[in-house]
Amino acid sequence: MAKQKKKPDRKTIRKTRVLAITSGKGGVGKSNFALNFALSLVEQNKKVLIFDVDLGFANIDVLLGRTPQETIATMIEKDLAAQDIIEEGPNGLLFISGGNGFNDLFRMDDLKLEKFFKELSTLQGKVDYIILDTGAGLSYENLRFILAADDVILVTTPEPTSITDAYSVVKMVHGKDPNVHMKLVINQSTSLREGQQTADNFKQVAEQFLGKEIGTLGFIPSDARIPEAVKKQTPLLLAYPDSPSAAAIRKVAGEFLQLPVPYKLGLKGFIMKILFK
Ligand SMILES: Nc1ncnc2c1ncn2[C@@H]1O[C@H](COP(=O)(O)OP(=O)(O)O)[C@@H](O)[C@H]1O
Ligand SMILES: [Mg+2]
Repeated sequence: MAKQKKKPDRKTIRKTRVLAITSGKGGVGKSNFALNFALSLVEQNKKVLIFDVDLGFANIDVLLGRTPQETIATMIEKDLAAQDIIEEGPNGLLFISGGNGFNDLFRMDDLKLEKFFKELSTLQGKVDYIILDTGAGLSYENLRFILAADDVILVTTPEPTSITDAYSVVKMVHGKDPNVHMKLVINQSTSLREGQQTADNFKQVAEQFLGKEIGTLGFIPSDARIPEAVKKQTPLLLAYPDSPSAAAIRKVAGEFLQLPVPYKLGLKGFIMKILFK
């Protein structure tokens, strides 16, 4: 009997989702959250790549205590393949470093930009999640990344300055595309109550003034272990796996995995949007 070639089951084809982690103000804990959230997903057997797109201020490599040879900057300069710039971090977490002093990705000529993103599209199906650690605020670059991603996590602290800046991001993004899914993570709250109140107020204001629904993914307490892990250049989840903040980040990742998958096009859709929208 002739052997029938088995078609791959649709469900077994891995879809790569792109998640942007952003904030209004800088210094709210976005990079530490992105890194440890990614490691929490790895603990849940997901294949994850962090793409450090805080261009000019990239520091995921610093948090990992690594000095990558190749970065986005050298990839473009030397015409490298995506595979050449992907580094393997702890527990199989993959990362791409932004490189220092590189901040003009979108000012490159269109052909180079297209080549760069086409090269990235080779990751389709190879990882479950690409996590973008974006810069803070409303720069043109940030907006492009946010608008192209499948999901957006907005990190804020309970401080009014952080909240008003986060709100400005919601307003701007919502004005450009009301269908962007945004979820809040409240970082550095001094109590669960403070975190909850911050999230409730934020959601209420967004709903009342913009008609925008924003979900809450969770709360991460202020925890001295985080700056300690930064000084050790070892991610919190590995340096202090039993700390309250590590537990909170794991819980946020658990919530995230429970979310319904939005109907989006994944990595291919992300690339089409970032290039042509
Ligand atoms: N939950 C937390 N508790 C205490 N300190 C934190 C917490 N989250 C972040 N930090 C500290 O805040 C600073 C900024 O964190 P970082 O992740 O670099 O922020 P961002 O990427 O938003 O600029 C770091 O010094 C970090 O140690
Ligand atoms: Mg950062």
